This record gives sequence, structure tokens and C-alpha cells, in this order.
Amino acid sequence: MNALEQFRLDGARALVTGASRGIGKAVAEGLADAGCDLALTARRQTALETTLRTVEDRGRKAVAIDGDLAETGVATSLVDRAASALGGLDIVVHNAGTLPMAEDGSPVLTPLQNARQEQWDAVVAVNLNATAALCRAAYPYLADSTRASLVLMSSVAGLVGTPMMEAYAATKAAQLSLTRSLAVGWSRRGVRVNALCPGWVRTDMTAFAAGTAPLSDWLTSHVPLGRWATPDEVVGAALFLASPASSFVTGHALVVDGGLSIPDGGLAGHPKPASPFAPA
Ligand SMILES: NC(=O)c1ccc[n+]([C@@H]2O[C@H](COP(=O)([O-])OP(=O)(O)OC[C@H]3O[C@@H](n4cnc5c(N)ncnc54)[C@H](OP(=O)(O)O)[C@@H]3O)[C@@H](O)[C@H]2O)c1
Repeated sequence: MNALEQFRLDGARALVTGASRGIGKAVAEGLADAGCDLALTARRQTALETTLRTVEDRGRKAVAIDGDLAETGVATSLVDRAASALGGLDIVVHNAGTLPMAEDGSPVLTPLQNARQEQWDAVVAVNLNATAALCRAAYPYLADSTRASLVLMSSVAGLVGTPMMEAYAATKAAQLSLTRSLAVGWSRRGVRVNALCPGWVRTDMTAFAAGTAPLSDWLTSHVPLGRWATPDEVVGAALFLASPASSFVTGHALVVDGGLSIPDGGLAGHPKPASPFAPA
């Protein structure tokens, strides 16, 4: 097979969660470019329809399904509705995720010792409990496919210490554990399971940091490539894991972080401003 053809996914049926904006929207569009038909999910139907139109403009079938993954049972119903609309599932990119959020929709960044249990529970409900439910519901469809790939959108936060975001980091690390366990457990049914670990990507989720110069400068000073990523820079890695290009790759966590997680990457000599966070 021509090397580039290994990245083609013509006629594959893919579910992308959190597809209304940010990384999930970019990944959905990339999968459409590769030939997938798509089921797209998020809470807000109106925003999802923008992605739906961009997928259809690429000549692919798309269906938008709204649901809040914080609610018990929704992950299962999203998967079943997606499989029913597409006639099965070959690829699942479970991308939806959340930071702890305040009533006004802004993220709550606070050390664990000051965080409320409800904030922890809300992050675990979406990032971990819904992930497990979604994987469980997707298994029979993926096991029936001859080109099954499950990709979990974890984070570099699951690999390195991430103070003030402990619940988020713990759930992202749990997704990496789940990736390895499912990769082994589902291997003999031919279902590959991998994770992506992006670093700092400029999206709505990170607007609180990207829009604040001292914080943004401090964060990017710890990224050897010295800048934020765009959502498009995650697409190639997602396509690799979803496609036959990675046909012998399973249980892997692919890091897309500009070098952030390189041990002692800071010793590259790039100057770092003082931390904007006061010590505990
Ligand atoms: N941005 C980064 O720097 C970064 C780095 C590493 C990993 N990640 C991970 O990458 C994924 C996408 O991040 P992003 O930055 O693109 O986030 P984003 O811009 O906030 O988009 C999140 C997406 O998930 C959906 N979503 C959020 N909560 C949901 C819920 N309770 N139920 C159903 N859908 C929900 C959102 O749509 P609705 O609001 O309409 O529901 C949206 O489509 C997340 O898992 C995140 O943890 C991001």
C-alpha cells in the first residue's frame, strides 16, 4: 500500500465526542478529509451544526447528537444513537472533557486543599465515569469492525505534576491507565486502543491562560518549542492513531506537547519568568 494511503479512512464510521469546537472540531474535520462519515456529539446542538456543515462540505455524511456526559446514561445513549445513524462504528475519538467549572462558566483553578468535593466529583463524572461508560458501550460495535480504533483524548496533565488542576490531571492519568488495560483486554478482538496527550492548545478551554500575558508567558516558557499549539496540530496524531497507519500500535500514549513533558526540558536554557502562582 502507498504510504499515504495508510492514512485514508474511506467509508469508515467514526464517532467524535466534543466535536463542536476546539480540538474535537479539528479532529472531526480531519477524519472527514480522510474519508470518514461522522457522528458528532456535544451538549450544544447549535454549535455542533457548524461542524456538521463543514463535514458535509467535505462530501461526507454527518449526524449531530447532543447530550451532557455529566448525566448518567448519556454516554451509552450517544454511542448507540451514533452507531444506529452510521450503521456501526469503526472509530471512536472520545475527546470531550472538562476542567472544574464555576457557575459563570469560568474554570476553577485552585489547589486540592481548597477545592470543593463537588468540583472534584463533576470532573470525575465527565472525564472518567463517562469515559468508562462510553468505552463499554462502544465495545460491541468496535469488536464487530475490521478496522476498529478507539482514541482517548487524555492530556500531558496526566503525565506531569499539575498543581491547581489535580482533579483534571488525575482523570487524565486514569484515561491512560484505561487505555493500557483496554488495549490488552480488547486486543484479540482486533480493537486497538490508544491515547493522545496534547500539551497547551489554544482553545476555549485554555482561553483563561492564553489571554493573560504573565500566565501565558510563564506556561509557554516551559514548552521547549516556546508557544501554544493550534487544534489543527493535534489532527495528524489523531489521524495516525485512527487509521491503518498505526495498525500495529496499541496501548500507546502519543504526546503532542512541543516538548513540555521532556524530563528537565527546562535545562535547554530558555529563560523562565517567575511563577504567577503563589507557593502554597
Ligand atoms: N486545550 C488544551 O490545551 C488541551 C490539552 C490537553 C488535553 N485537552 C483535552 O482535549 C479535549 C478537548 O479540549 P478543548 O481544549 O478542545 O476543549 P473545549 O474547547 O472546551 O471543547 C470541549 C468540547 O467538549 C464538549 N463538552 C464539554 N463538556 C461536555 C459535557 N459535559 N458533555 C458533552 N460534551 C461536553 C464541548 O461542547 P459543549 O460545551 O457544547 O458541550 C466541546 O465540544 C478535552 O478532553 C481536554 O481535556 C485539551
